[in-house]
Amino acid sequence: MSKQVFYSSIQQELDRLDEAQVNKRHETVIEGFTDHPSPRAVIGEQEYRIFNSNDYMGFRHHPSLKKAEHEASEKYGTGPGAVRFISGSLKVHRDLEQALAKFHGREEGIIFSSAFAANLAVLFSLITGQSRDSVVNNDTLVVSDELNHRSIIDGIRVANHPKEKRKIFKHLDMTSLAEVLEAGKTTNKRALVVTDGVFSMLGEYQDLGEMRKVIDEYDAQYEQGVLLVVDDAHGVGAFGETGRGTEEVSGGQADVLIGTMGKAFGADGGYVVADKIVIDYLREAAATYIYSNNIAPGTAGAALAAVELLSGAEGKGLLERSRANTKLFKEGLVKVGYEFAADSVHPIQPILIGDAKAAKALSKVLYEAGILVTTISYPVVPAGRDEIRVQISAAHTTEDVEYLVEKCKGAK
Ligand SMILES: Cc1ncc(COP(=O)(O)O)c(C=O)c1O
Repeated sequence: MSKQVFYSSIQQELDRLDEAQVNKRHETVIEGFTDHPSPRAVIGEQEYRIFNSNDYMGFRHHPSLKKAEHEASEKYGTGPGAVRFISGSLKVHRDLEQALAKFHGREEGIIFSSAFAANLAVLFSLITGQSRDSVVNNDTLVVSDELNHRSIIDGIRVANHPKEKRKIFKHLDMTSLAEVLEAGKTTNKRALVVTDGVFSMLGEYQDLGEMRKVIDEYDAQYEQGVLLVVDDAHGVGAFGETGRGTEEVSGGQADVLIGTMGKAFGADGGYVVADKIVIDYLREAAATYIYSNNIAPGTAGAALAAVELLSGAEGKGLLERSRANTKLFKEGLVKVGYEFAADSVHPIQPILIGDAKAAKALSKVLYEAGILVTTISYPVVPAGRDEIRVQISAAHTTEDVEYLVEKCKGAK
């Protein structure tokens, strides 16, 4: 059968990935977790301390989230039923959107099945417009940081925008951004600058205060202005004194802010907060909202509980704990001679190993000691910059962090 020929070409690709040792499909299966407050992953007969998760606040095992999830599914059922323009919005979805808008000090919010879906929606809708009949002008210059997340890259691809209107600026480089905006100002009506807030490989962040200054300078030079779009998936809920993310740390505001509820919020789904007009437009133009189910009501209930916790004293305390754990970890490693691939103040802490084999060997030693971390090698990072990515959580105890430091020390 001809389909066997098709399959054999797929098999060749799988073989290539296996040979290059860059495959991803052999995922670890976690059978369960031990109890709160510092849950360990159960794999086979072993328990593992988790240093490779985005659950920065430890919310996914928090009793308040589990209770809220349960109550919302009791009240609304386990699934959304249909897309919202067909069967209506559940109140828990609207409550969550309003809570997220309030949390970030914005007029309105909209939730998506994921931040990936939110990025596709925002970029497609704001770059291209919704349909052939759309009256939204698409004479837009799109300017993107060279290390932006895959969902931003794909969002720009989906918009199918002419190549000459898609530009990259050098990673975290405001001079480069200004040069791109300068070059495009006479041939484009408006510009859209898009960036990650926190960059997940190294824990570095875009200085939104500095970026805002550049954008404000060029705003008046484009007929329809310059819009700043920030995806702060790793920042929201985890970064800054009160968990407002990169905006809080670097002091600049996005016009359109994208976040996820699948990391620090301990739930799932993505969101956008912005001026009401932008959100109204997304409800009309965003295909991943209009034609795709929203998150389950239980998930929305859990996320709402996370926003409430983050807005109160408990959230503040957890953020403090996360910072203390991060400091303890970093100081412990520096003392024994480890270097970091970037000077991150975020709970993402990249230990520079510099060689793929050595990085794999260290992560194996840690795994055998009951610790989960992530090895990141070329091509995700440049050759010679291989790292072990450690992710610190407020759920870690001091003993957890000291244990990790001790094991890294032993492997030096
Ligand atoms: C910057 C960034 N944006 C978007 C996402 C996707 O988030 P979600 O899992 O909600 O789709 C991630 C997660 O990997 C991310 O790091």
